[in-house]
Amino acid sequence: MRIRAWTTGDIGIGTRVFLRIDANVPIKKGVVEDGDRGRIAQTVPEIIRLCAHGARVILATHLGDPKGKVDEKLSIKPIAKALERRLKRKVVVLDGVIGKHVEKAILEMEPGEIVMLENLRFEKGEEENEVAFSKSLARLADVYINNAFGVCHRAHASVLGITEYLPSFAGGLLHKEIKELSTVPLHPFVLIMGGAKLSTKIPILEALGKKADKILLGGAISLPFLKALELPMPVKPHGLLLPADVAAAKTVIKKYRSKLFVPIDLVLDDSEEKVLDVGPDTIKLFASELKGAKEVLWNGPMGIIEFPGGRKATESIAKLLSKNKPRRAILGGGDSVDYLEKKNLLGGFTHVSTGGGAMLAFLAGEKLPGLEALK
Ligand code: 3PG
Repeated sequence: MRIRAWTTGDIGIGTRVFLRIDANVPIKKGVVEDGDRGRIAQTVPEIIRLCAHGARVILATHLGDPKGKVDEKLSIKPIAKALERRLKRKVVVLDGVIGKHVEKAILEMEPGEIVMLENLRFEKGEEENEVAFSKSLARLADVYINNAFGVCHRAHASVLGITEYLPSFAGGLLHKEIKELSTVPLHPFVLIMGGAKLSTKIPILEALGKKADKILLGGAISLPFLKALELPMPVKPHGLLLPADVAAAKTVIKKYRSKLFVPIDLVLDDSEEKVLDVGPDTIKLFASELKGAKEVLWNGPMGIIEFPGGRKATESIAKLLSKNKPRRAILGGGDSVDYLEKKNLLGGFTHVSTGGGAMLAFLAGEKLPGLEALK
């Protein structure tokens, strides 16, 4: 896929650049959770590059989902601080997203300076891709750059609408994501899928199932498969086994039965009602199926990593990949990235994607509005 890159002719001293980033990262007890391979860190090189060209850089991100209302708990102030620490430069937080006062503050910036708009989703026009709001965003800048792969599957004003009104380009991180996720798989190619919400993962299982040599399933999404295969289920996990999920699992099984590997044991919580993780025999099975893999693509943890009892399988597989070092190993965005980074277990991955849902949609072959706008 070819998307427009900016060149030195597009940005000069004092050009006002609207840089859409995806700094939607967890903030726990006021602490921004983002390590050296996380979304914030991966955003930094483009900002530095723009400052070096003398641009006036206007950063914009969403954070959580305040649904069009100001919610101080979702202010981007802690994100701006985290960026300042990485950039070693001042990031001035503006009071709001659009409006005369925001435009004025931007006009007063010096070349090479950085400001940050408040949470884009404080404005309802953002998620609704409203024309008036898109135009107000466009008024802030001369050029638009999208460096927010994680949000390219959303037809929102700061992703899509604004591109109607400004010369629009892809940033370096967006290019890197597309390049890393567009390669022809190396075989043996193993797909590892976990986490929850099977419905969001069916399209990628269908699309990549064809190319994969093996598909290893863990996490809550594996339970409908156990049911569909009529394998013993040790518990009745509440709310997890939707009939639609079992039906979807049956479709995948029909197509890819010979390459599917599902858990053969599970770890339950004390009440024996919740599945926390896949068990030790499954870890052994997955480890042996991963032997010799040249490419691995992994999305979603094997257990509920929020609970101490739900982390072992995810950690074990990450450790194994650090040891085996497949030629290409891609980890999909989300909570498992933050967790594995904290545990220093990202060593086996050649690419850590900043996209969660966006990565799944891209790999499933869907058209992403944010990318279509930059063709
Ligand atoms: C993500 O976290 O996947 C992106 O930032 C998109 O967020 P959203 O799912 O709230 O649109």
